[in-house]
Amino acid sequence: MANQLLKGKKGIIFGALDPNSIAWKVALKAHAEGAVFTLTNAPVAMRMGAINELAATTGSQVIPADATINEDLENLFNKSIEILGGKVDFVLHSIGMSPNVRKNIPYTQTNYDFFHKTLDISALSLHRTLQTAMKIDAINEWGSVVALTYIASQRVFPDYNDMADAKSLLESITRSFGYQYGKAKKVRVNTISQSPTKTTAGSGVKGFDGFFNYADQMSPLGNASAESCADYCISMFSDLTKMVTMQNLFHDGGFSYTGVSAEVIEKFNTI
Ligand SMILES: NC(=O)c1ccc[n+]([C@@H]2O[C@H](COP(=O)([O-])OP(=O)(O)OC[C@H]3O[C@@H](n4cnc5c(N)ncnc54)[C@H](O)[C@@H]3O)[C@@H](O)[C@H]2O)c1
Repeated sequence: MANQLLKGKKGIIFGALDPNSIAWKVALKAHAEGAVFTLTNAPVAMRMGAINELAATTGSQVIPADATINEDLENLFNKSIEILGGKVDFVLHSIGMSPNVRKNIPYTQTNYDFFHKTLDISALSLHRTLQTAMKIDAINEWGSVVALTYIASQRVFPDYNDMADAKSLLESITRSFGYQYGKAKKVRVNTISQSPTKTTAGSGVKGFDGFFNYADQMSPLGNASAESCADYCISMFSDLTKMVTMQNLFHDGGFSYTGVSAEVIEKFNTI
C-alpha cells in the first residue's frame, strides 16, 4: 500500500536489468510512493531492452552509464538534473559483477585483471558515483544514497569468491564517504545487506540454491524477498530515516545474528 512517502522527491536508480532485479522492484515502489527518477544501467545491459518497459511503466527516462567511467556518471547526473528539474534526493546503487565468478575461476587461482574489474564495477563505482555527485553538487541536503551488499563481506562464504572482497570495500567506502558527504552536505550514505535473492547476479554464484535454502532455514523470519528489500530502500530514501548514515543495515530475516537454528541442528542429529 502506497503512502506517498517519497512525494516530491527526485532520484536515480542504477541496476534494473530485468523484473527479477532488486532495482526493478525499487523503481516500481518509488513510483508508487510518488517519486520521480531516471533509470540507468551499463550500455551493454540496455541491449536486452527490458529497462524500456520499466521506464514506460514508471514514466521515467533511461540514461545509459557504465558505472566505471567518470564521464558517463557526470553525464548521468547532469542529464538527470535537467530531466527532473533539479538536484536529486536519492540514489540507488544496485550494481555487482565479477568476471571471476562468471568464469568459475576459484578464489585461490584468481585472475587479477578480472579481480580489478570486480572491484571497479562492484565497489569503486560507488566512490565514483559519490565523487561525481559531490563535484557537481547533484544531491540535495538530507539526500540518501543506498548501495546493496551481502554478508560475505564480513563472514566467509567460500563460493562468493572475489565479490566478498568487493563488498568489504563497498561497505568501507560507505563509511568513509558517508562521513565526508555528511559533513559537507548532510547527504547520507548506507548499505543494505540483503538475503540471497533469485536474480541474475545472485544466481551467478556457484551453489546458489544451497546458499539460498541454508539462509532461509537459518533465518527466524526466512529469507527477505527482493520486494521487501525494495520496501527497506524506500524507507531509507524517505525523511523517516533522516539521521541514519554510514551504516551497514542487515535486511536478512535475522540471519546475521543467528548462531544456529533448530532446522539446521536437526540435520546434524543423526551424524
Ligand atoms: N541477488 C542476491 O542474492 C543479492 C544479495 C545481496 C546483495 N545483492 C546485491 O544487489 C545488487 C543488485 O543485484 P541483483 O541481485 O538485483 O542482480 P541484477 O543482476 O539484476 O543486478 C546487477 C546489476 O548490475 C549492473 N551492472 C553490471 N556492471 C555494470 C556497470 N559497469 N555499470 C553499471 N551497471 C552495471 C547489471 O547490468 C545489473 O543491472 C548487487 O549489488 C548485488 O551484489 C544481491
